[in-house]
Amino acid sequence: MVQINANYLKLKAGDLVPEIGRRVAAYQAGHPDAKIIRMGIGDVTEPLPAVCVAAMHAAVDDMGRREDFRGYGPEQGYAWLREKIAARDFAARGCAIEADEIFVSDGSKCDTANILDILAPGRVNVIAVTDPVYPVYVDTNVMAGHTGEAREGAEYEGLVYLPTTAENGFAPPLSERRVDIVYLCSPNNPTGAALGRVDLERWVDYARRHETLILFDAAYEAYITDPSLPHSIYEIDGAREVAIEFRSFSKTAGFTGVRCALTVIPKTLTGTAENGERVDLHRLWMRRHTTKFNGVSYITQRAAEAVYSDEGRRQVRETIDFYMGNAKIIRKSLVALGLSVYGGVNAPYVWVKTPGGLTSWEFFDKLLGEAHVVGTPGSGFGQAGEGYFRLSSFNSRENVLEAMARLKEKVRL
Ligand code: MLT
Repeated sequence: MVQINANYLKLKAGDLVPEIGRRVAAYQAGHPDAKIIRMGIGDVTEPLPAVCVAAMHAAVDDMGRREDFRGYGPEQGYAWLREKIAARDFAARGCAIEADEIFVSDGSKCDTANILDILAPGRVNVIAVTDPVYPVYVDTNVMAGHTGEAREGAEYEGLVYLPTTAENGFAPPLSERRVDIVYLCSPNNPTGAALGRVDLERWVDYARRHETLILFDAAYEAYITDPSLPHSIYEIDGAREVAIEFRSFSKTAGFTGVRCALTVIPKTLTGTAENGERVDLHRLWMRRHTTKFNGVSYITQRAAEAVYSDEGRRQVRETIDFYMGNAKIIRKSLVALGLSVYGGVNAPYVWVKTPGGLTSWEFFDKLLGEAHVVGTPGSGFGQAGEGYFRLSSFNSRENVLEAMARLKEKVRL
């Protein structure tokens, strides 16, 4: 009889997204005329930038001509894309990242999960996550056997949780217990908070002192509006020795259905082997990437490249400004209702304190029942998310205005 990976049995049942789906479906079944507006899942709604569409069409034509046809590409990504990324995303911000330290991939979710392949199996590393947290960081560590069982209140034994709440300005406190790995996501999903230079300097300093690896998820960096905030961890001195950065075209250029992302592993980053020897993580990831991945399609990489043209940058900015316009409307409407509102300034997510001591799920049911508006309960992201609620600004203007009008008119707070 085949043996299964028993770590999967430790995963908490009733995951956030299916539970939202279940409640919405049950409500819709009982109220077939209700026009439900979904502001829960953070998925882009605007079409691809025109430059990307044109680049993809041209790339398809290339593939149809014998002289331009391409089979397998380099697993790490085509040099013409990596060089543009290095120049525009990193060198332009003063970060010393070389094109060959960039790995093009099909998504940051996959990369943040797959990176565990090159780190010690079992419960060797002490791993810290923020609370609330993007659930993928936790679940992939459970799957890899890096944790014990889920405890009462749904924390996994063996993980270090760093609470980020209104009380600490949503900036993860340095771990009192020494940790080997820490996940930082800025701008943050779900809280919408972006870390400042000082916050990042504290973490880089901590990582250098404790030989901690920072897994820095910058999937939402394009949403930063405050010019004083860093977009990359490599804007901080010393980060090349301690951090891996994940970036994505998903939220930047509407690629959630196209699939393209990148991971940066500086050649100066090392980990320790069992015998104490320092080993280059870039080399290990290269080995992993070339063995388990055959590269992102040529057509997709041409679309990603188009994002870096002057016109591409203008079009991307226009779409992001549109979503941030939604965020502004959401923020303003919720503040007018007397709610405590966070995020939505440097991130597409608005994070709101539930009123009157309601739990996150109680507030979810209230908004669904009274206004037919769906958001994401903060408790689904961790214990410290209890009493909070996330609204996504990825939507049409019409839906956002309609949802906010309903909140004003129909919800009794
Ligand atoms: C979310 O709703 O949190 C997003 O869909 C996360 C993601 O991009 O995977």
